[in-house]
Amino acid sequence: MSDLPAGKSPTDSHTIMSELVLPNDTNGLGNLMGGRLLHWMDVCAAISAQRHAGVVCVTASVDTVEFHSPILQSEIVTLSSWVNRAFRTSMEVEISVEAENPRTGTKRKANRAFYTFVAVGADGKPIPVPPVKTDSLEEAEAFEAAGRRRQFRLFTAGRLGDDDIQNLQEYIGSIRHER
Ligand SMILES: CC(C)(COP(=O)(O)OP(=O)(O)OC[C@H]1O[C@@H](n2cnc3c(N)ncnc32)[C@H](O)[C@@H]1OP(=O)(O)O)[C@@H](O)C(=O)NCCC(=O)NCCS
Repeated sequence: MSDLPAGKSPTDSHTIMSELVLPNDTNGLGNLMGGRLLHWMDVCAAISAQRHAGVVCVTASVDTVEFHSPILQSEIVTLSSWVNRAFRTSMEVEISVEAENPRTGTKRKANRAFYTFVAVGADGKPIPVPPVKTDSLEEAEAFEAAGRRRQFRLFTAGRLGDDDIQNLQEYIGSIRHER
C-alpha cells in the first residue's frame, strides 16, 4: 500500500514571495533583467512543488515566458505560485508575477508562467507525488487545462507516444472546428 497522502489542494502548495528590485538586478535601462526574474520564479515554484511533494524537486521544463512590460528599479515584485496538477512524478506549477510601485501602491500583473517540476529521491531518480484534489471550479478548470498543456510540452520535448499524439491532433482539430 502506498504511503503517499491521498491528495493535496493547490492551497497547500500556495507560496508568496516578494523581492525588491535593486540596482544589481537591472540592465542598462534600469529595468529588471529577465534572467533574474526567471530565477525568482524558479525559486518560488520550487517551494510550491516541494510543499506539494514533501521531497526535493528539480525543474524539468519551463513553458514559454513572455515579458509584457518592464519592471523598474525600486519596484516590489511579488510572485505567487501553486501546483495545478500532479501527474506520476511530475507537477505543473503556475506562477503569477505582480509589480508594485512602492510610492503609489499601484500594482500591475507583470507575467504568468508554467514550470514543470519532478520529485526526486536521494539518488536523483523520479519518485511518485500525491495527486492534486481540487476544491473549487477555478481549481478544477486549471487542473483540466494542465493536462492539455502537459501534452503540448511533452510533444515539444519529443516525449509523447503515438496514441497521445493522435489524441492531441484530434483535440487541435476539434478546437479548429469550433472556431
Ligand atoms: C527531470 C529528470 C529528473 C527526469 O528524469 P527522466 O529520467 O527523464 O525521468 P522520466 O522519463 O521517468 O520522467 C519523469 C517525469 O518527468 C517528466 N518530464 C521529463 N522531461 C520533461 C519535460 N521536458 N517537460 C515536462 N515534463 C517532463 C516526465 O513526463 C515524467 O513525468 P510523470 O512521471 O509525471 O509522467 C531528469 O531529466 C533530471 O534530473 N534533469 C535535470 C534537472 C535539473 O537539474 N534541473 C535544474 C536545471 S539546471
